[in-house]
Amino acid sequence: MLNGRTQVTAVIGHPVAHSVSPAIVNAAYEAAGLDWVFVAFDVQPGRAADALTAMRSLGVRGLSVTMPHKDDVFASVDELTERATTIGAVNCVTRVGDRLVGDNTDGRGLLLSLADDPGTDVGGLAVGVIGAGGAARSIVSASAEAGATSIVVVNRTESRAVATVGVAPLVARVGSLADLAECDVIINATSVGMGDDTALAVPIEVLRAGQVVVDIVYHPLDTPLLRAARQVGATAVDGLGMLVGQAALAFAMWTGEVAPLDAMRRAARLAVSSP
Ligand code: ATR
Repeated sequence: MLNGRTQVTAVIGHPVAHSVSPAIVNAAYEAAGLDWVFVAFDVQPGRAADALTAMRSLGVRGLSVTMPHKDDVFASVDELTERATTIGAVNCVTRVGDRLVGDNTDGRGLLLSLADDPGTDVGGLAVGVIGAGGAARSIVSASAEAGATSIVVVNRTESRAVATVGVAPLVARVGSLADLAECDVIINATSVGMGDDTALAVPIEVLRAGQVVVDIVYHPLDTPLLRAARQVGATAVDGLGMLVGQAALAFAMWTGEVAPLDAMRRAARLAVSSP
C-alpha cells in the first residue's frame, strides 16, 4: 500500500506508455516486501535535464533512462561511473545523497541474466556482437570485464564498429559476419528483426549447435534470428534477458537488496505477452 514513506523510482522516456519496466520493477519490490514504487514518466525530447532537476527536488531515488534521453542524461548527471564514461551512455541514475550518479547496466544486466538462465558465463568464451550503438558498446564492455577471450564486433557501418572496439581494445576486434561462426556466444544488438522485420541479423550459415544465440530485440520475443538458432540446434535466448538483467542491477543499486530475478522474469514475460 502506498503511503507517506513510499520511495519513488521511475523510467523516463518518450514514448514510454508501453514500457514493461514498471511491471518488472514493481514485481521485484513486491517480492522483496519493499515499500517502493516504480512509475513511468513521459518526458518530452530535450527535457531530460529538467527531469533530473525534478528528481533532486522530489527525492526520487533512482531513474531508468530510455530513448531518446540517454545522451542528455549522460551530459547532465553530477557524476558518471567509469563504465558509463567508457561506454558513452547512461541508462540508470542513482541518487546518492544529493548527487546523481549515472551508470550503464545494459551489458552487465544481459550477462547477469545469461549466467542465471541458460547458465552461460562468457568468461573464457569467444563472443560475437552485431551492432555498434549504446547497447552494443555496453555489451562489449561487460563481456571484456567478464573475461571473454575474444570479442568480434560486426556492424553495417564499419567506422562505428571501430569506435565500439575502442571500448575494450585489448580483446575486441572488428570482424565480418563470417567470423561469427567461430564464436561461442552471438549477441544481436541491432534493431534487425524488430516489429515486422523478417530480416536475419546473422546468416544461418554461421550458426551451429552448441552456440548460445542472444537477441536484445524483445518486440517480438521470437525473432527470425532466434528461430534460425533453434533450427540448427543452438540455444536461443530472447530479449527479456537484458531487460530483466538491467532492471535487476538497478534494483540492487537503488535498494541495496539482492534482486528477485525469478519474480522479475515472470512479470516481464507476462507484461510482454499482454496486449
Ligand atoms: P542503440 O543505442 O539503442 O543500441 P543505435 O545507436 O540506433 O541504437 O544503433 C542501432 C544499431 O543497429 C546500429 O549498429 C545500426 O547499424 P549502423 O551503425 O550501421 O546504423 C544497427 N542497424 C539498424 N538497422 C539495421 C539494419 N537494417 N541492418 C543492419 N544493421 C542495422
